[in-house]
Amino acid sequence: MQYANYAAFHSCIADLIDTPEVQAMCDIPQHADISCFGHSVFVAYLSFRICRRLGWDYRAAARGGLLHDLFLYDWRVKGSHTGPHGFTHPRAALENASQLCELTDVEKDIILKHMWPLTPFSFYRYKESLAVSCADKICAFAEAFHIFHRMYFDHRLGLCQRAYLRARRKAMPAL
Ligand SMILES: [Fe+2]
Ligand SMILES: [Fe+2]
Repeated sequence: MQYANYAAFHSCIADLIDTPEVQAMCDIPQHADISCFGHSVFVAYLSFRICRRLGWDYRAAARGGLLHDLFLYDWRVKGSHTGPHGFTHPRAALENASQLCELTDVEKDIILKHMWPLTPFSFYRYKESLAVSCADKICAFAEAFHIFHRMYFDHRLGLCQRAYLRARRKAMPAL
């Protein structure tokens, strides 16, 4: 079952995960010793699992979760961005994500609203946005307090990729 979850998760994000924009998050620190990429994969997977369990749009949750912090700058570096990062980065992430791929309305809402209640005037329009926003806070807490180490995310992503490739091989007709 776990393996099936990994394969389903990776199939949701397969066209995004290796793009230069998403991979660029590997070089951007997020919480503690976790990169923005590691954080985003963790948020995407947890959101995917929550929404799949509840019968919600898990594909949007996985994709929106992966792209929710695609702001692509190191917020600790002075001059890397304008305005307070906590308030402005959802819009920067949405602009970058919109250039990367076609976004559904749910995915747009997920990215734009994930910092609520820090952005009090932008409340969730979809239940999947609530799920990703909660997952974001849980993951940030786990990362900041070293509950999950970066290797854990790398390992999990590796499992996802292997499960996805295995599922694809099975689905391909024999030559
Ligand atoms: Fe964020
Ligand atoms: Fe985040």
